[in-house]
Amino acid sequence: MILAPSILSADFGRLAEQIQQAQRGGAGMVHVDVMDGHFVPNITIGPPVVRAIRKATDLPLDCHLMIENADRWVETFVDAGANWVSVHVEALPHLQRTVTLLRQRGVKAGVALNPSTPLGALEEMLPELDYVVVMSVNPGFSGQSFIPGCLDKVRRLRSQIEARGLAVRIEVDGGVDASNVAALVQAGADILVAGNAVYGQADPEAAARQLLAAAR
Ligand code: DX5
Ligand code: ZN
Repeated sequence: MILAPSILSADFGRLAEQIQQAQRGGAGMVHVDVMDGHFVPNITIGPPVVRAIRKATDLPLDCHLMIENADRWVETFVDAGANWVSVHVEALPHLQRTVTLLRQRGVKAGVALNPSTPLGALEEMLPELDYVVVMSVNPGFSGQSFIPGCLDKVRRLRSQIEARGLAVRIEVDGGVDASNVAALVQAGADILVAGNAVYGQADPEAAARQLLAAAR
């Protein structure tokens, strides 16, 4: 199980230091929320920031692309230093092409599902994925509340992955905090993204450590 703090809630003026704080608390990955103001109602981080973070940490960078035309940008993010890249099924009519490109570039390929998108949308693609991102808020902002129905979605996805004998990992993103991490891990989550629950706290290192303890 990996804790992936989302830097969307971090102090952007001290990103390197904030990432190191979370790493000392046990974070195993850095979650980078890329938003374009079209697919979601917010604009955040682009390739130059990913390049800067790449120099500041040796943790894997998990870039969550909440953008339209993601197939036009995935290689730019890989070149900038992304190790894991997820794209949204709702934004890509030619998902198979994008996933193939990511895997050819040697990064982990993930597909994210909005809360209202059924698991069935991944039926054909599941065997080709390294991870699925189950969104447990409507993407756009940190600090939103976990949508309770998403817990069962994680459970159902885990049983589908097992029934098909696949090695796909499940990442849960949105409203993850100490009150729900244990249930999420029990439901089958492998990667826990947490923005507010790490960087919204006075001491991100202690917050990361406490979240991991709660998850175990
Ligand atoms: C939501 C983003 C999330 C978000 C998580 O659009 O994809 O990664 O930053 O933040 P919290 O944990 O505060 O919901
Ligand atoms: Zn995210």
